[in-house]
Amino acid sequence: MMMNFSLLLFAYLLGSVSSAIIVCRLMGLPDPRTQGSKNPGATNVLRVGGKTPAAITLAGDSLKGLIPMLLGHLLGVTPLVLAGIGLAAFIGHLFPVFFGFRGGKGVATALGVQFGLFWPIGLAVAAIWLFVAKVLKISSLSALISMALAPLIVWLFWPDRALIGMQLIITGLLFWRHRSNIRNLITGTEGRLVD
Ligand code: G3P
Repeated sequence: MMMNFSLLLFAYLLGSVSSAIIVCRLMGLPDPRTQGSKNPGATNVLRVGGKTPAAITLAGDSLKGLIPMLLGHLLGVTPLVLAGIGLAAFIGHLFPVFFGFRGGKGVATALGVQFGLFWPIGLAVAAIWLFVAKVLKISSLSALISMALAPLIVWLFWPDRALIGMQLIITGLLFWRHRSNIRNLITGTEGRLVD
């Protein structure tokens, strides 16, 4: 009981560490919350500072989901607790205690959770993200399509109710966080990724 609570708390606190804000601060770049889409995430860091800081942000935000999930596996927790850990890390990223509860949109952290849950799940979601990004060159649309399919992918690889529920909640929150992107996609004003 105490171990499970500690794992959830650790996942939330780790999720609360904003890679985008820290990377930009350390690399002398403007605060991503004041530039571009104002989102503290890898896509906006790409706009603000280019590929290297964006790649570090992507890795950092993914690790926030990956590490607590791997720890859960190592400690042999149940799928229900794994689902709680994944949600705690994701919610930490969206509502970070260290940054006034104003965080990012959760794509990289969700990917980390999926890789940590069972790597083929993460690989499948990441492959869809990459494919859509390559073809359509719109980061948010890639995220929305891959995360919309993620509950189905979890069901295919690990048909557990708690884990599918976790993914449904993550996908729902992620769509809610992307509401301005969805509006821009509908009006045709969403920004595109550049090579
Ligand atoms: O990872 C977030 C991405 O899906 C959208 O980011 O900055 O274009 O709103 P942004």
